[in-house]
Amino acid sequence: MFALITSGVLALSLVLVTVLKYKFIAKKKCLLGRHVIVTGGSSGIGKCIALEAAKIGANVTIVARNENRLRSALEEIKGQCSYNDQKFNYLSVDLAGDYNMVKTTLNNAIDEMGPLCLFINCAGMAICGTLEDISSNDIMTKNFGIKVTLALPPDTDTPGYANESKDKPLETLLISETANLFTPEEVGRQILQDTLDGRFFSTVGFEGHMMTISCAGMAPYTSYLELICQVFCAGILRLITVYYQSTFDKIIKKCKLDREHLKNNKT
Ligand SMILES: NC(=O)c1ccc[n+]([C@@H]2O[C@H](COP(=O)([O-])OP(=O)(O)OC[C@H]3O[C@@H](n4cnc5c(N)ncnc54)[C@H](OP(=O)(O)O)[C@@H]3O)[C@@H](O)[C@H]2O)c1
Repeated sequence: MFALITSGVLALSLVLVTVLKYKFIAKKKCLLGRHVIVTGGSSGIGKCIALEAAKIGANVTIVARNENRLRSALEEIKGQCSYNDQKFNYLSVDLAGDYNMVKTTLNNAIDEMGPLCLFINCAGMAICGTLEDISSNDIMTKNFGIKVTLALPPDTDTPGYANESKDKPLETLLISETANLFTPEEVGRQILQDTLDGRFFSTVGFEGHMMTISCAGMAPYTSYLELICQVFCAGILRLITVYYQSTFDKIIKKCKLDREHLKNNKT
């Protein structure tokens, strides 16, 4: 009996290892010699995605505005290449600028580097502040692009994060501190992995997974395992999200009271 169980477990482990190995190799092959464009590829999460793509053999184009940062990021990315003929390129363009200019620049890159296999749209920045303090121009300015996978990164330790933290209202800061701060390397790696797996949602950490499972709704599912997880975890996660919401409400109320208290003391 014991021998039967042991051989069953061994056979299952073997199947699991083979499937994982096959998936791993298949993923590596998928980007070998293929063209990947990463917007926001000169810094933070975008740069880490570009580094991961270079490691697995992709021809990488990074897009951002500042040419010096692009050049130095490209040197770093080239350092990760996995074979000699791999191609790398950078494009300096404002993605929030003239549409035709952006279109022409991207088309030129495709002509030069080959047909597009994967487009990662990671350029952007958060403009923090209360709604009353943000100008309508800030709200309307946005980037555009094609998203195959919807990446919902948690707080990630990047130059962009450091910059947005300076202007974050106290409530936002305290709420975002309830989850962990992740490195751009682990977030970039996960986004590329999820994109290659064809997942609709990509995220990192418990809170991220909790949110994406809770919000699955009509979102496409990638595997039966994911679907089973969504079906069976939705109920209990709803309760957990209620706990999070009440904690966030308390933070907001406390900050408001503290602010009013400070104002009254001044007058
Ligand atoms: N870090 C986090 O905690 C976090 C969490 C959730 C979501 N996100 C989002 O993830 C994205 C990347 O964030 P990050 O933290 O990695 O930021 P980051 O380190 O500041 O990098 C932003 C990148 O986007 C480029 N960029 C910004 N505006 C652009 C424009 N108009 N045209 C072309 N390129 C532009 C920047 O280069 P140039 O300035 O040279 O153009 C840079 O390469 C952002 O959309 C951010 O809001 C970040």
